[in-house]
Amino acid sequence: MPNEGSTFEFGRSMRSHFLLDDDYIPLNHGSYGTYPKVVREALQGYRDRIESNPDKFIRRDLESELHKAREAVAKFINVEVNEIVFVLNATTGINAILKSLKYEKGDKLLYLSTVYSSIRELLNFIRENNQETVELVEIEANYPLSDDDLIDRFVKVIQEENQKPNTRIKLAVIDSISSQPGVIFPLQRLIPILRQNDILSIVDGAHAIGQIPLDIKEMNPDFFVTNCHKWLYTARSSAILYVPYKHQKKVHPAVTSPFTIYGFIPEFSWTGTQDFRQDDFFFLFSPYLTIHAALEFREKIGGEEKIRNYCKKLAIEGGNKIASILGTEIIGPESVIQNMVNIRLPIPVSNKEFSDRKFMNLMFNNYNFAVAIFEHNGHWYIRASAQIYTDMEDFEKVGHFVKEICDSFLSA
Ligand SMILES: Cc1ncc(COP(=O)(O)O)c(C=O)c1O
Repeated sequence: MPNEGSTFEFGRSMRSHFLLDDDYIPLNHGSYGTYPKVVREALQGYRDRIESNPDKFIRRDLESELHKAREAVAKFINVEVNEIVFVLNATTGINAILKSLKYEKGDKLLYLSTVYSSIRELLNFIRENNQETVELVEIEANYPLSDDDLIDRFVKVIQEENQKPNTRIKLAVIDSISSQPGVIFPLQRLIPILRQNDILSIVDGAHAIGQIPLDIKEMNPDFFVTNCHKWLYTARSSAILYVPYKHQKKVHPAVTSPFTIYGFIPEFSWTGTQDFRQDDFFFLFSPYLTIHAALEFREKIGGEEKIRNYCKKLAIEGGNKIASILGTEIIGPESVIQNMVNIRLPIPVSNKEFSDRKFMNLMFNNYNFAVAIFEHNGHWYIRASAQIYTDMEDFEKVGHFVKEICDSFLSA
């Protein structure tokens, strides 16, 4: 029987399934994601259902609806349904973990220099909130960097820190795929090393679900958070917090729930009715429930492998195309690339005329495309996202636009 998914050709024609403006070139799915029209319909359906009888939905149906949504995503990432809860976003999930854990004098928290900005702030907050008896240990990660070098660096720092008296490394916060640059981190190799050293692993998987295959049982982290609204196509905002049974008593939502005494699932399922403000369209639960529509859409268009293969190939070829237009290179090796590719800009950081803000103003106002821009390891980079609704023509056009922008600063 022919696979129905094969009839969906990825690229420009998929734009009809999304809400994106026709003349906009969206190469920045990685920042906020976007969702297909069928997901918007599902979202609206839930909103209408909730508002037709809020009491009935919230008091009677909400729990089972959330359970069904958790069941669907638990199967997708291979965990037990009662080991995951929905949270607003990755930031909220990691806040819940780090602010719930108890710290003792001499505890050290390990992280990479590529840690996401809000998580860096959160780590600073934990240190200050514990009268600075907690120490932060940053491991430098300057790309391009091979997995072997990164792991060696991690192991070296663990060995050095383990030798210091009256301290212990309590935990490590590690990305599954970092943001700037957007590169895959070798978690499967690192988590066992952390475990052997009695270090809790907290995985910031903001970019993980929908981008790389996830088998959480096999990965076996202590905590894992992933955004569904980035790469899985659910409505915004929606994220999953995984806490295995052995840790559940230690972790509470960042906003305390009236159901705290009932344990992990109930307390994370309700953190106040403020979520149902209708006037500014902020409905907390309906985005979570769009998980079914998102997964059905992915299945219908051909499934995970087809999506992954298309995006990885396009990211590598498209990234190289932009780099060849700019006369620069992408961050490799290809094993660190999935849907996001980082391309060096031909502008030195010493060029004081140039700034990320000026670049973005031109990008939005003069050209109408989107990529992420950042400074890393002494260079300016852009991060371009491949998605099923983008193709090589998009990357090529963006390459020329970016060249025009860079040239305007280089000739100034
Ligand atoms: C690695 C990483 N962690 C955390 C976040 C924060 O995600 P959110 O804003 O959805 O909480 C991001 C956002 O892009 C990210 O890239």
